[in-house]
Amino acid sequence: MRVLSSFLYKKLLCLSPRPGLLGMNPAKGFTVSACIRLWRQHSHSKSSVVTAADLVNYWQDVFEKNEIPEPQTSSEYIISHVLGAKTFESLSARNICSPVSPALQEQIQQLCTKRLKRMPVQYVLGEWDFSDLTLKMNPPVFIPRPETEELVSLMVDEELSKRFTLECRKDPWLSPKTSGPVVLEVGCGSGAISLRLLKKLPHSRVIAIDKSEAAVNLAQENAERLQLQDRIKIFHHDLSSGPWDSLLSWGLIDTIISNPPYVFHEDIAHLAAEILSYEDLGALDGGEDGMNVIKEILNLSFYILKDCGNVFLEVDPRHPEMVANWLSSHPNLFLSVFAIHQDFCAKPRFLHIKKHRREDNRGP
Ligand SMILES: C[S@@+](CC[C@H](N)C(=O)[O-])C[C@H]1O[C@@H](n2cnc3c(N)ncnc32)[C@H](O)[C@@H]1O
Repeated sequence: MRVLSSFLYKKLLCLSPRPGLLGMNPAKGFTVSACIRLWRQHSHSKSSVVTAADLVNYWQDVFEKNEIPEPQTSSEYIISHVLGAKTFESLSARNICSPVSPALQEQIQQLCTKRLKRMPVQYVLGEWDFSDLTLKMNPPVFIPRPETEELVSLMVDEELSKRFTLECRKDPWLSPKTSGPVVLEVGCGSGAISLRLLKKLPHSRVIAIDKSEAAVNLAQENAERLQLQDRIKIFHHDLSSGPWDSLLSWGLIDTIISNPPYVFHEDIAHLAAEILSYEDLGALDGGEDGMNVIKEILNLSFYILKDCGNVFLEVDPRHPEMVANWLSSHPNLFLSVFAIHQDFCAKPRFLHIKKHRREDNRGP
């Protein structure tokens, strides 16, 4: 088997452009296309055989030279995707070593060129996994992050354990004969949280809202792809301006869940180029203290959440204390922080807030 000649390989690598945001540097455009021209010349030559392993090595090197973050995984994900696998490890040994056709090499080159422009690999592939769900991804709709899987698990555990506790036994859904909880997700993005909940809690129903029309359309498409559309209502709704009574078409809410925009405004400029250039910053910017939408959700809870209902929020590590203080100064909301959970980096990132029964409230 022949692979790239070391001469050609070195030539390709030394032509790799220097980093520049989104390929705005004209030199970058020139060198990328020169690089691609050489690659085409090489791969169309009858005598050459190029395998998946060669391509992964080649594009990894190009990404490294261009200081693209996670060069190896970027290269592996793109090449595996084009060859019909989720990960490089899941490509069979035969696929890794057999020749890749010129048409597939062309597709790989097109996707890698997007990655060279700092497009997140999730948008490059057009799909991404959230737990066991494969979701369609479209810029600029927020890409679900792995820590959010933990937020969903916390809520699912709470719902399952509620069935076995005596607390709040008056809640109708605790009876096995009735349907499951009604959940409101604020800021559904691609639908990751809501759709995972529907899968894990087969009797639940979800109202999902987002102020971004692109997000609402994508969440609806993902719900249909996963055949979960019958238990979800997805609304284009801005929490800060829309009337909340439209959220009660299934009655009062048992649980509100949200991964709201919570980045402190002053931190936005320091986010990675991938995020700043491609993701909707309205999905991230939580205002001066990162709490704009968090406060909207807590205020809304007073009106639409059942007594003994729960609120699960993903937040910045500075927020648990700030939220607890804010709730202490707003006793009329009947809410208090019940638990703070850490993420896989041991940072306090998830808030479990409970609404008391009004007669239980001992406040002023
Ligand atoms: C961090 S993203 C979370 C998306 C998705 N839940 C996830 O975890 O992948 C926050 C989402 O909230 C939406 N959003 C921001 N402000 C909102 C508001 N005032 N009302 C409704 N949705 C809002 C954004 O459009 C964005 O889709």
